[in-house]
Amino acid sequence: MKVIATDVNDSDKKLARKLAQEEAHHLRGIDSYFYRSHLVYEKELTHLVFRSWLYAIHASEIPEPGDYQLLFIGEDSIIISRDEKGNIHAMHNICRHRGSRVCEAPAGNRKVFVCPYHGWVYNSDGSLKSARETHVMPDFNLQAHGLKKIRLVEFMGLIFINCDPQAVDFLKPLENLRKPLGAYQLENAKVAHKHTYRINANWKLALENYLECYHCATSHRAYSRLHTLRDLDEKVSPLISAMLAQTDRITGIDGMGTAYDKTYLNAEGFGACINTSRYGLFKDHQTGSADGKPLAPLMGDIRAYDGGVGDFQMGPLSFMLNYPDHCVMYRFLPRSLTSTDMQLVWYVNANAVEGTDYDKEKLIWLWHNTSLEDDYIITRNSEGVNSRFFEPGPYHPEFEASLHQFNRWYLHTLENSLPTPG
Ligand code: FES
Ligand SMILES: [Fe+2]
Repeated sequence: MKVIATDVNDSDKKLARKLAQEEAHHLRGIDSYFYRSHLVYEKELTHLVFRSWLYAIHASEIPEPGDYQLLFIGEDSIIISRDEKGNIHAMHNICRHRGSRVCEAPAGNRKVFVCPYHGWVYNSDGSLKSARETHVMPDFNLQAHGLKKIRLVEFMGLIFINCDPQAVDFLKPLENLRKPLGAYQLENAKVAHKHTYRINANWKLALENYLECYHCATSHRAYSRLHTLRDLDEKVSPLISAMLAQTDRITGIDGMGTAYDKTYLNAEGFGACINTSRYGLFKDHQTGSADGKPLAPLMGDIRAYDGGVGDFQMGPLSFMLNYPDHCVMYRFLPRSLTSTDMQLVWYVNANAVEGTDYDKEKLIWLWHNTSLEDDYIITRNSEGVNSRFFEPGPYHPEFEASLHQFNRWYLHTLENSLPTPG
């Protein structure tokens, strides 16, 4: 594990000074302090990550009563489970007695969760079923000691959670994606593959890398043979406009090319970013495969390949890339100051049979390899950024515009985390 030397004099005062310095440098990257400070990392978890809507799992991954999966954020563990009635719950994996984890295996099926420490028993909806020998405690109330619940919404089979009980509603912002995302019928999709890449770098470096395609031409040769995002708009806009002009007709979906953008400071509420647009593949490429040829049966209601790819953002840390025949979810979660879980999930049509309708290796080839390339460049980036000699350079006005948006929101969130003077 990489150890980063941090300043022992770190404090709110120092953070306030660093934030003030950033005010003068809007159009460049942020100071290395924000990637090195343990104080900043703690504030990010409290004030940003645990207040944001985050993709958890697809409902089809826990189809039966008692099915569950664990989700890890920072040092925390969260249980996503399906109860006996078929309802899905999210709750903290922390016993209400003295705090032990109540579940260790990352996925499985349990009628109940039994705490390994003193044996308290929780139902699959998180309620406390029994607590040994508490009959001698007349005031003890089982109902008051269920596992702590976490906000949860389901949209087209995608489960999102938010650890802030006061978080804004997320279903309403998500509605803006109904037409372009609904086309894929994700509620009827299945997870063909998922993989978590542990990146040895601060989560912001992993996210910032995702938010820009300036690096695509140099770092992702295979991707860049297919995807127009590697180029400036002035070069590829005729191709994209031509694709968009006929996308509804070819795909058979009214509103397939819809664009919408309310992210970061412009989001409908804190941590409820929504963005979508459709961009083009280079001529004669139908999907994200080595040769541009189809990989799997078409998704949902889509009738034919239009040469386009749907780009989606749902919350600040979850994204989707949707080809007509498969979709890829990207989710970033911090695990420590210097490590990040980048999870990719590949979805296909629920009726598609592996080996018959699609070849899993070919399906995941592009984004698996692109992720390995990203891992390489993000960790190199981390090494340089963590040097005391690093001085941020200017953002590219087009390719890196999203980084600017993200950083403004990020710095604003940290400002709000400081105690009010007086
Ligand atoms: S900590 Fe779970 S039963 Fe005691
Ligand atoms: Fe990349």
